[in-house]
Amino acid sequence: MKRLSLLLVSALMLTATTNAQPIDNSTPPMGWMTWNQFGVNINEQIIRETADAMVATGMVDAGYDYIIIDDGWQGGRDNRNNIIPDPQKFPSGMKALADYVHSKGIKLGIYSDAAPLTCAGYTASLGFETQDARTFAQWDIDYLKYDYCGAPDDQLVARARYKAMADALRKSGRAIYFAACEWGAHQPWLWASQIGAGLWRTTYDVRDMWRDVNGKGGLGILDIIRQNLDLYPFAGAGKGWNDMDMLVTGLYGKSGPSADLGGTGCTEEEYRTQISFHALMCSPMIATCDVRTIDDRSLAMLLNSDIIAISQDRLGVQAQPSSKLCLQGEGDWIAVVKPLSDGSVAIGILNAGDSAAECSYNLTMHTGNNKNVVKDVWSGQTTKLGQKWKGSVAPHQTKVLIVSASK
Ligand code: GLA
Repeated sequence: MKRLSLLLVSALMLTATTNAQPIDNSTPPMGWMTWNQFGVNINEQIIRETADAMVATGMVDAGYDYIIIDDGWQGGRDNRNNIIPDPQKFPSGMKALADYVHSKGIKLGIYSDAAPLTCAGYTASLGFETQDARTFAQWDIDYLKYDYCGAPDDQLVARARYKAMADALRKSGRAIYFAACEWGAHQPWLWASQIGAGLWRTTYDVRDMWRDVNGKGGLGILDIIRQNLDLYPFAGAGKGWNDMDMLVTGLYGKSGPSADLGGTGCTEEEYRTQISFHALMCSPMIATCDVRTIDDRSLAMLLNSDIIAISQDRLGVQAQPSSKLCLQGEGDWIAVVKPLSDGSVAIGILNAGDSAAECSYNLTMHTGNNKNVVKDVWSGQTTKLGQKWKGSVAPHQTKVLIVSASK
Protein backbone atom coordinates (compact mmCIF):
# COMPACT_ATOMS: atom_id res chain seq x y z
CA MET A 1 0.00 0.00 0.00
CA LYS A 2 2.78 2.33 1.06
CA ARG A 3 4.63 1.45 -2.17
CA LEU A 4 1.53 2.14 -4.20
CA SER A 5 1.07 5.58 -2.64
CA LEU A 6 4.72 6.34 -3.21
CA LEU A 7 4.36 5.35 -6.83
CA LEU A 8 1.26 7.50 -7.16
CA VAL A 9 2.99 10.49 -5.58
CA SER A 10 5.99 10.11 -7.90
CA ALA A 11 3.70 9.77 -10.92
CA LEU A 12 1.84 12.92 -9.88
CA MET A 13 5.10 14.82 -9.35
CA LEU A 14 6.29 13.78 -12.78
CA THR A 15 3.03 14.91 -14.38
CA ALA A 16 3.29 18.21 -12.55
CA THR A 17 6.70 18.91 -14.07
CA THR A 18 6.06 17.43 -17.49
CA ASN A 19 5.51 19.79 -20.35
CA ALA A 20 2.90 17.96 -22.38
CA GLN A 21 4.07 19.58 -25.62
CA PRO A 22 7.21 18.12 -27.19
CA ILE A 23 9.79 20.76 -28.14
CA ASP A 24 8.90 22.28 -31.50
CA ASN A 25 12.08 23.23 -33.31
CA SER A 26 10.61 23.31 -36.80
CA THR A 27 11.23 27.06 -37.00
CA PRO A 28 13.69 29.36 -35.18
CA PRO A 29 12.56 30.60 -31.75
CA MET A 30 11.22 34.14 -31.34
CA GLY A 31 11.05 36.15 -28.15
CA TRP A 32 12.85 38.56 -25.89
CA MET A 33 15.98 38.28 -23.72
CA THR A 34 17.09 40.44 -20.82
CA TRP A 35 20.81 40.81 -21.52
CA ASN A 36 21.54 43.56 -24.03
CA GLN A 37 19.43 46.20 -22.35
CA PHE A 38 19.49 45.24 -18.67
CA GLY A 39 22.65 43.19 -18.11
CA VAL A 40 22.51 41.74 -14.59
CA ASN A 41 20.15 44.47 -13.37
CA ILE A 42 17.06 42.32 -13.68
CA ASN A 43 14.20 41.40 -11.37
CA GLU A 44 10.78 39.78 -11.42
CA GLN A 45 8.98 43.08 -11.90
CA ILE A 46 10.84 43.75 -15.16
CA ILE A 47 9.94 40.25 -16.36
CA ARG A 48 6.26 40.59 -15.46
CA GLU A 49 5.98 44.05 -16.99
CA THR A 50 7.76 42.88 -20.12
CA ALA A 51 5.37 39.93 -20.43
CA ASP A 52 2.46 42.39 -20.17
CA ALA A 53 4.07 44.69 -22.74
CA MET A 54 4.73 41.83 -25.15
CA VAL A 55 1.03 41.02 -25.08
CA ALA A 56 -0.09 44.67 -25.31
CA THR A 57 2.21 45.48 -28.24
CA GLY A 58 1.05 42.46 -30.26
CA MET A 59 4.46 40.78 -30.07
CA VAL A 60 3.07 37.58 -28.57
CA ASP A 61 0.35 37.33 -31.23
CA ALA A 62 3.03 37.86 -33.87
CA GLY A 63 4.99 34.86 -32.55
CA TYR A 64 7.46 36.35 -30.03
CA ASP A 65 6.58 33.81 -27.38
CA TYR A 66 9.71 33.36 -25.25
CA ILE A 67 11.07 35.49 -22.42
CA ILE A 68 14.60 34.41 -21.57
CA ILE A 69 16.18 35.51 -18.30
CA ASP A 70 19.90 35.86 -18.95
CA ASP A 71 22.76 36.05 -16.45
CA GLY A 72 22.34 37.67 -13.04
CA TRP A 73 19.25 35.87 -11.67
CA GLN A 74 21.17 33.45 -9.43
CA GLY A 75 21.42 33.67 -5.65
CA GLY A 76 23.83 30.76 -5.06
CA ARG A 77 22.86 27.33 -3.68
CA ASP A 78 20.86 26.33 -0.60
CA ASN A 79 22.06 23.84 2.02
CA ARG A 80 21.04 20.97 -0.28
CA ASN A 81 22.98 22.47 -3.16
CA ASN A 82 19.83 23.42 -5.04
CA ILE A 83 20.43 26.49 -7.18
CA ILE A 84 18.27 29.40 -6.00
CA PRO A 85 17.29 32.77 -7.45
CA ASP A 86 18.53 35.99 -5.86
CA PRO A 87 15.86 36.62 -3.19
CA GLN A 88 16.12 40.40 -3.61
CA LYS A 89 15.59 40.29 -7.37
CA PHE A 90 13.13 37.39 -7.50
CA PRO A 91 11.36 37.36 -4.10
CA SER A 92 8.37 35.33 -5.37
CA GLY A 93 10.61 32.61 -6.83
CA MET A 94 10.93 31.26 -10.33
CA LYS A 95 7.91 28.93 -10.28
CA ALA A 96 5.54 31.83 -9.54
CA LEU A 97 7.20 33.86 -12.28
CA ALA A 98 6.88 31.00 -14.77
CA ASP A 99 3.19 30.67 -13.86
CA TYR A 100 2.68 34.37 -14.54
CA VAL A 101 4.57 34.34 -17.84
CA HIS A 102 2.74 31.18 -18.95
CA SER A 103 -0.61 32.80 -18.14
CA LYS A 104 0.27 35.39 -20.81
CA GLY A 105 0.92 32.73 -23.45
CA ILE A 106 4.70 33.12 -23.17
CA LYS A 107 7.33 30.48 -22.38
CA LEU A 108 10.09 31.16 -19.86
CA GLY A 109 13.80 30.64 -20.44
CA ILE A 110 16.69 30.82 -18.00
CA TYR A 111 20.50 30.91 -18.19
CA SER A 112 23.44 28.96 -16.81
CA ASP A 113 27.02 28.10 -17.75
CA ALA A 114 29.17 24.98 -18.22
CA ALA A 115 31.67 25.99 -15.52
CA PRO A 116 31.54 26.79 -11.79
CA LEU A 117 30.69 30.46 -12.46
CA THR A 118 28.89 32.31 -15.26
CA CYS A 119 30.33 35.07 -17.43
CA ALA A 120 29.16 37.68 -14.94
CA GLY A 121 30.49 35.66 -11.98
CA TYR A 122 27.26 34.04 -10.72
CA THR A 123 26.69 30.42 -9.65
CA ALA A 124 26.72 28.02 -12.61
CA SER A 125 26.03 24.35 -13.31
CA LEU A 126 29.25 22.37 -13.84
CA GLY A 127 28.97 19.23 -11.70
CA PHE A 128 25.33 20.03 -10.88
CA GLU A 129 23.81 19.37 -14.29
CA THR A 130 21.28 16.73 -13.16
CA GLN A 131 20.26 18.64 -10.06
CA ASP A 132 19.94 21.99 -11.85
CA ALA A 133 18.02 20.50 -14.78
CA ARG A 134 15.54 19.01 -12.28
CA THR A 135 15.25 22.34 -10.51
CA PHE A 136 14.56 24.13 -13.80
CA ALA A 137 11.93 21.50 -14.63
CA GLN A 138 10.29 21.95 -11.22
CA TRP A 139 10.12 25.69 -11.89
CA ASP A 140 8.41 24.92 -15.25
CA ILE A 141 11.22 26.47 -17.25
CA ASP A 142 10.93 25.94 -21.03
CA TYR A 143 14.36 27.00 -22.38
CA LEU A 144 17.95 26.99 -21.14
CA LYS A 145 20.67 29.23 -22.55
CA TYR A 146 23.95 27.55 -21.61
CA ASP A 147 27.09 29.67 -21.70
CA TYR A 148 30.79 28.70 -21.77
CA CYS A 149 32.68 31.30 -19.70
CA GLY A 150 35.30 29.84 -17.37
CA ALA A 151 35.46 26.58 -19.34
CA PRO A 152 38.46 25.10 -21.19
CA ASP A 153 39.24 26.18 -24.74
CA ASP A 154 38.89 22.66 -26.11
CA GLN A 155 36.29 21.29 -28.51
CA LEU A 156 36.07 17.84 -26.88
CA VAL A 157 35.53 19.35 -23.43
CA ALA A 158 32.95 21.79 -24.81
CA ARG A 159 31.08 18.99 -26.49
CA ALA A 160 31.15 16.81 -23.35
CA ARG A 161 29.97 19.63 -21.10
CA TYR A 162 27.10 20.56 -23.42
CA LYS A 163 26.15 16.90 -23.76
CA ALA A 164 26.08 16.50 -19.97
CA MET A 165 23.52 19.28 -19.66
CA ALA A 166 21.53 18.18 -22.73
CA ASP A 167 21.26 14.66 -21.25
CA ALA A 168 20.27 16.06 -17.87
CA LEU A 169 17.53 18.19 -19.46
CA ARG A 170 16.21 15.16 -21.35
CA LYS A 171 15.91 13.28 -18.07
CA SER A 172 14.48 16.22 -16.14
CA GLY A 173 10.84 15.34 -16.70
CA ARG A 174 10.14 18.45 -18.77
CA ALA A 175 10.71 19.39 -22.39
CA ILE A 176 13.31 22.18 -22.12
CA TYR A 177 14.73 23.76 -25.27
CA PHE A 178 18.54 23.74 -25.13
CA ALA A 179 20.44 26.74 -26.50
CA ALA A 180 24.22 26.39 -26.69
CA CYS A 181 26.16 29.62 -26.26
CA GLU A 182 29.89 29.00 -26.76
CA TRP A 183 30.15 31.75 -29.37
CA GLY A 184 31.23 29.53 -32.26
CA ALA A 185 34.66 29.15 -30.69
CA HIS A 186 34.61 25.34 -31.09
CA GLN A 187 32.54 25.01 -34.27
CA PRO A 188 29.27 24.03 -32.54
CA TRP A 189 27.54 23.82 -35.94
CA LEU A 190 29.42 20.51 -36.32
CA TRP A 191 28.22 18.88 -33.07
CA ALA A 192 25.62 20.86 -31.09
CA SER A 193 22.65 19.46 -33.02
CA GLN A 194 23.80 15.87 -32.41
CA ILE A 195 24.03 16.32 -28.67
CA GLY A 196 20.53 17.80 -28.53
CA ALA A 197 20.88 21.60 -28.78
CA GLY A 198 18.15 23.39 -30.72
CA LEU A 199 20.47 26.25 -31.67
CA TRP A 200 24.05 27.35 -31.18
CA ARG A 201 25.60 30.81 -31.04
CA THR A 202 28.05 31.21 -33.90
CA THR A 203 29.83 34.41 -32.83
CA TYR A 204 30.89 36.48 -29.85
CA ASP A 205 28.39 39.01 -28.51
CA VAL A 206 26.71 41.49 -30.82
CA ARG A 207 27.20 45.15 -29.92
CA ASP A 208 24.80 47.94 -30.75
CA MET A 209 26.80 49.08 -33.79
CA TRP A 210 27.15 48.52 -37.53
CA ARG A 211 30.70 47.20 -37.52
CA ASP A 212 33.90 47.34 -35.57
CA VAL A 213 35.43 50.44 -37.10
CA ASN A 214 37.54 51.45 -34.14
CA GLY A 215 39.28 48.10 -33.65
CA LYS A 216 37.98 47.62 -30.12
CA GLY A 217 37.17 43.99 -30.93
CA GLY A 218 33.40 44.18 -30.59
CA LEU A 219 31.16 42.73 -33.29
CA GLY A 220 28.57 44.80 -35.10
CA ILE A 221 25.61 43.77 -37.24
CA LEU A 222 27.66 43.54 -40.45
CA ASP A 223 30.52 41.60 -38.81
CA ILE A 224 28.06 38.96 -37.60
CA ILE A 225 26.26 38.71 -40.95
CA ARG A 226 29.58 38.08 -42.66
CA GLN A 227 30.55 35.38 -40.14
CA ASN A 228 27.30 33.49 -40.80
CA LEU A 229 27.06 33.60 -44.58
CA ASP A 230 28.79 30.27 -45.18
CA LEU A 231 27.20 28.36 -42.29
CA TYR A 232 23.94 27.66 -44.17
CA PRO A 233 24.56 23.90 -44.67
CA PHE A 234 24.45 23.30 -40.91
CA ALA A 235 21.06 24.90 -40.15
CA GLY A 236 17.62 23.66 -40.95
CA ALA A 237 14.33 22.28 -39.72
CA GLY A 238 15.16 19.05 -37.90
CA LYS A 239 18.79 20.13 -37.35
CA GLY A 240 18.72 23.44 -35.47
CA TRP A 241 19.78 27.01 -36.08
CA ASN A 242 22.86 29.20 -36.35
CA ASP A 243 22.30 31.80 -33.64
CA MET A 244 23.54 35.28 -34.62
CA ASP A 245 22.82 36.57 -31.08
CA MET A 246 20.11 39.02 -30.00
CA LEU A 247 18.46 41.69 -32.14
CA VAL A 248 19.70 45.13 -31.13
CA THR A 249 16.59 46.82 -32.57
CA GLY A 250 15.45 49.81 -30.56
CA LEU A 251 18.48 50.03 -28.28
CA TYR A 252 19.83 53.20 -29.93
CA GLY A 253 23.08 53.12 -27.94
CA LYS A 254 21.42 53.06 -24.54
CA SER A 255 23.47 51.64 -21.70
CA GLY A 256 23.73 47.89 -21.13
CA PRO A 257 26.26 45.30 -22.31
CA SER A 258 25.55 45.89 -26.01
CA ALA A 259 26.80 49.45 -25.56
CA ASP A 260 30.29 48.15 -24.69
CA LEU A 261 33.22 48.07 -27.14
CA GLY A 262 31.96 50.94 -29.26
CA GLY A 263 28.25 50.03 -29.28
CA THR A 264 26.98 53.58 -29.64
CA GLY A 265 23.84 52.70 -31.58
CA CYS A 266 22.70 52.10 -35.16
CA THR A 267 20.50 53.80 -37.71
CA GLU A 268 16.99 52.58 -38.44
CA GLU A 269 18.21 51.16 -41.74
CA GLU A 270 20.93 49.18 -39.95
CA TYR A 271 18.46 47.76 -37.42
CA ARG A 272 16.23 46.74 -40.34
CA THR A 273 19.19 45.03 -41.97
CA GLN A 274 19.85 42.99 -38.85
CA ILE A 275 16.20 41.85 -38.62
CA SER A 276 16.20 41.06 -42.34
CA PHE A 277 19.24 38.84 -42.08
CA HIS A 278 18.05 37.06 -38.94
CA ALA A 279 14.85 36.19 -40.83
CA LEU A 280 16.61 35.19 -44.04
CA MET A 281 19.27 33.16 -42.25
CA CYS A 282 16.90 31.35 -39.87
CA SER A 283 18.58 32.85 -36.84
CA PRO A 284 16.38 33.21 -33.74
CA MET A 285 14.42 36.47 -33.56
CA ILE A 286 15.15 37.52 -29.99
CA ALA A 287 14.56 41.19 -29.21
CA THR A 288 16.34 42.86 -26.29
CA CYS A 289 15.29 46.48 -26.06
CA ASP A 290 12.93 47.56 -23.29
CA VAL A 291 9.56 46.48 -24.68
CA ARG A 292 7.77 48.55 -22.02
CA THR A 293 9.01 51.74 -23.68
CA ILE A 294 9.73 50.58 -27.24
CA ASP A 295 9.29 53.28 -29.92
CA ASP A 296 6.69 52.76 -32.65
CA ARG A 297 9.17 52.43 -35.49
CA SER A 298 11.21 49.72 -33.78
CA LEU A 299 8.02 47.87 -32.92
CA ALA A 300 6.84 48.08 -36.53
CA MET A 301 10.15 46.53 -37.65
CA LEU A 302 9.77 43.62 -35.25
CA LEU A 303 6.15 43.08 -36.25
CA ASN A 304 6.63 43.18 -40.04
CA SER A 305 4.51 40.19 -41.04
CA ASP A 306 6.45 39.37 -44.23
CA ILE A 307 9.73 39.30 -42.29
CA ILE A 308 8.19 37.01 -39.68
CA ALA A 309 6.77 34.78 -42.43
CA ILE A 310 10.26 34.51 -43.96
CA SER A 311 11.78 33.68 -40.58
CA GLN A 312 9.14 31.12 -39.72
CA ASP A 313 8.70 29.58 -43.17
CA ARG A 314 8.14 25.87 -42.69
CA LEU A 315 10.77 24.86 -45.24
CA GLY A 316 13.32 26.05 -42.65
CA VAL A 317 16.18 26.65 -45.09
CA GLN A 318 18.87 29.24 -44.26
CA ALA A 319 19.51 31.70 -47.08
CA GLN A 320 22.60 31.02 -49.19
CA PRO A 321 24.90 33.68 -50.59
CA SER A 322 24.01 34.38 -54.20
CA SER A 323 27.01 34.34 -56.50
CA LYS A 324 25.54 36.38 -59.33
CA LEU A 325 24.55 39.51 -57.56
CA CYS A 326 24.16 43.04 -58.78
CA LEU A 327 26.12 42.32 -61.94
CA GLN A 328 25.92 45.86 -63.16
CA GLY A 329 26.21 47.43 -59.75
CA GLU A 330 29.21 49.16 -58.32
CA GLY A 331 29.94 48.70 -54.66
CA ASP A 332 30.10 46.28 -51.80
CA TRP A 333 27.12 43.91 -52.06
CA ILE A 334 25.96 40.96 -50.04
CA ALA A 335 23.01 39.09 -51.54
CA VAL A 336 21.38 35.97 -50.16
CA VAL A 337 18.52 33.77 -51.32
CA LYS A 338 16.12 31.73 -49.23
CA PRO A 339 13.62 29.32 -50.80
CA LEU A 340 10.11 29.49 -49.31
CA SER A 341 7.55 26.73 -48.93
CA ASP A 342 5.07 28.20 -51.46
CA GLY A 343 7.68 28.04 -54.25
CA SER A 344 8.67 31.70 -54.07
CA VAL A 345 12.10 32.93 -52.96
CA ALA A 346 13.12 35.63 -50.52
CA ILE A 347 16.12 37.65 -51.68
CA GLY A 348 18.12 39.94 -49.43
CA ILE A 349 20.26 42.60 -51.14
CA LEU A 350 22.50 44.46 -48.72
CA ASN A 351 24.55 47.46 -49.69
CA ALA A 352 27.43 46.96 -47.26
CA GLY A 353 29.26 50.01 -48.63
CA ASP A 354 29.11 53.49 -47.15
CA SER A 355 27.45 55.26 -50.08
CA ALA A 356 24.22 54.63 -52.01
CA ALA A 357 24.60 52.35 -55.02
CA GLU A 358 22.56 51.01 -57.92
CA CYS A 359 21.86 47.32 -58.21
CA SER A 360 20.51 45.33 -61.11
CA TYR A 361 19.57 41.85 -59.98
CA ASN A 362 18.62 38.95 -62.23
CA LEU A 363 15.40 37.41 -60.91
CA THR A 364 15.06 34.85 -63.68
CA MET A 365 17.96 32.81 -62.33
CA HIS A 366 15.78 32.00 -59.29
CA THR A 367 12.30 31.72 -60.81
CA GLY A 368 13.17 30.40 -64.25
CA ASN A 369 10.66 32.87 -65.64
CA ASN A 370 10.96 36.13 -67.57
CA LYS A 371 7.94 37.64 -65.82
CA ASN A 372 8.02 37.97 -62.06
CA VAL A 373 5.96 39.31 -59.19
CA VAL A 374 8.08 41.11 -56.62
CA LYS A 375 7.06 42.27 -53.17
CA ASP A 376 9.43 44.72 -51.49
CA VAL A 377 8.94 43.66 -47.90
CA TRP A 378 10.00 46.90 -46.19
CA SER A 379 8.10 49.29 -48.48
CA GLY A 380 5.13 46.92 -48.76
CA GLN A 381 4.88 47.47 -52.54
CA THR A 382 4.22 44.69 -55.03
CA THR A 383 5.21 45.12 -58.68
CA LYS A 384 5.30 43.03 -61.84
CA LEU A 385 8.76 42.92 -63.35
CA GLY A 386 10.61 41.23 -66.18
CA GLN A 387 13.94 39.50 -65.77
CA LYS A 388 15.50 42.11 -63.54
CA TRP A 389 14.96 44.06 -60.40
CA LYS A 390 16.77 47.40 -60.50
CA GLY A 391 17.03 49.88 -57.70
CA SER A 392 19.08 52.20 -55.60
CA VAL A 393 20.06 50.81 -52.22
CA ALA A 394 21.02 53.20 -49.43
CA PRO A 395 24.23 52.56 -47.45
CA HIS A 396 23.74 49.64 -45.01
CA GLN A 397 20.20 49.11 -46.28
CA THR A 398 18.85 45.66 -47.12
CA LYS A 399 16.17 45.28 -49.75
CA VAL A 400 14.15 42.18 -48.98
CA LEU A 401 12.21 40.95 -51.99
CA ILE A 402 9.74 38.07 -52.13
CA VAL A 403 9.81 36.91 -55.72
CA SER A 404 7.62 34.45 -57.58
CA ALA A 405 7.14 33.62 -61.25
CA SER A 406 4.23 35.53 -62.76
CA LYS A 407 1.49 33.34 -64.26
C1 GLA B 1 28.14 35.94 -22.56
C2 GLA B 1 27.04 35.65 -23.57
C3 GLA B 1 26.02 36.76 -23.55
C4 GLA B 1 25.43 36.90 -22.14
C5 GLA B 1 26.54 37.09 -21.12
C6 GLA B 1 26.03 36.99 -19.70
O1 GLA B 1 28.86 37.07 -22.91
O2 GLA B 1 27.58 35.49 -24.85
O3 GLA B 1 24.99 36.54 -24.49
O4 GLA B 1 24.69 35.74 -21.85
O5 GLA B 1 27.57 36.12 -21.26
O6 GLA B 1 27.04 37.18 -18.74
